[in-house]
Amino acid sequence: SAAITLDPGFTSTGACESKICFIDGEKGILRYRGYPIEQLAEKSDFVEVAWLLLYGELPNADQLKKFRGQLTYHSMIHEDMKKFFEGFPNNAHPMAILSAMVASLSTYYPESETEEHHDENIARLIAKVRTLATYAYKKSIGQPLTYPQNKLRYAENFLHMMFAVPCEEYTVNPIMAKALNMLLILHADHEQNCSTSTVRMVGSSRANIFASISAGICALWGPLHGGANQAVLEMLEMIENDGGDYKKWVQKAKDKDDGFRLMGFGHRVYKNFDPRATILRKMCEEVLAELHIDDPLLQIAENLEKVALEDEYFVSRKLYPNVDFYSGILYRAMGIPTNMFTVMFSIGRLPGWLAHWKELRDEDSRIYRPRQVYTGATERDYVPMENR
Ligand code: CMC
Repeated sequence: SAAITLDPGFTSTGACESKICFIDGEKGILRYRGYPIEQLAEKSDFVEVAWLLLYGELPNADQLKKFRGQLTYHSMIHEDMKKFFEGFPNNAHPMAILSAMVASLSTYYPESETEEHHDENIARLIAKVRTLATYAYKKSIGQPLTYPQNKLRYAENFLHMMFAVPCEEYTVNPIMAKALNMLLILHADHEQNCSTSTVRMVGSSRANIFASISAGICALWGPLHGGANQAVLEMLEMIENDGGDYKKWVQKAKDKDDGFRLMGFGHRVYKNFDPRATILRKMCEEVLAELHIDDPLLQIAENLEKVALEDEYFVSRKLYPNVDFYSGILYRAMGIPTNMFTVMFSIGRLPGWLAHWKELRDEDSRIYRPRQVYTGATERDYVPMENR
């Protein structure tokens, strides 16, 4: 139909108005509710940033205390849910488990789908996603599940549930907790990316908050989106095992027949550097030094970046490292296994998804319903089986 403008991949179609996140891809600017990402990463913490994204302002002391209290209050999952984890194969991908568990949460809170419960469900999700994520991990390595501890803050509690075992004392390393806070802040929102648009799309049908977020987790899983962080680490390991011939891998990425892309490179919006990658590269160097970890993959990543950015192919297409390029090296330094990286991204992105879901619901939006340009067969008559 003549009235429909075709925009594959939505490169120039604004699907909504939003007050949450600002990106200037040409200048490499990212702001949450007006605050530059650099300042938030340095000065804030993840729970405060979550509140900012959700409610539009930095919380005052009372608001933050109340929010932290809610996240503590809701941190356990229903005991019956523990049985779900037993049914998955040991090698189940934790993203599959996480999306299934988040959708399942809706069965425990069916009565709370009215607007006055939205804030409570938001806190529930932010609190419980950590518990669900760490249970998926514990199940995969055959360790007993670790309960959250009320005395611990958000990032600390996550590390505790991931790594504590009943037979010994576990003390959270403050360097790791700080690094985790920064990582989660850097992932917390990114306007209308694939998973956030998915959350808004599903939410626009008035599907419940748990179902909408579960859909976002599935969208994030793909290797062109959040799954890239896992793919980057696997790529760096491959390059290491292959003897570190960077030029060869850059050449492979340029070859369109090969199908290989340099994972963690390129971005739909950033045509200059990705400010998150700049922060992460610096963080990687600092945190690894503080933890006295000498990871050869950091050197490999830095060398690969250098070789790629000297190449005309990457320069002319404005392909720079993105958020996923350095994050995996930090997760690895914390002892988080590669197949959990995209789960980490989900925990970080959750407040963003929820803020967009809330914004959409608060404005009483119409259902999302894109149109298409039909290119299929014109009308034709049904052919009986014997004539085909
Ligand atoms: N390696 C090699 N070539 C690339 C790469 C790459 N990583 N990324 C883009 N290109 C090329 C692409 O082949 C195309 O070339 P040509 O113009 O000759 O056909 C050109 O650059 C433009 O690429 P595109 O696929 O049209 O760009 P897009 O905006 O549709 O895709 C992207 C963006 C991020 C999906 C893509 O750059 C990519 O696949 N990167 C690797 C995966 C990745 O790191 N994803 C994480 C994204 S950031 C955070 C997140 O969402 O999780």
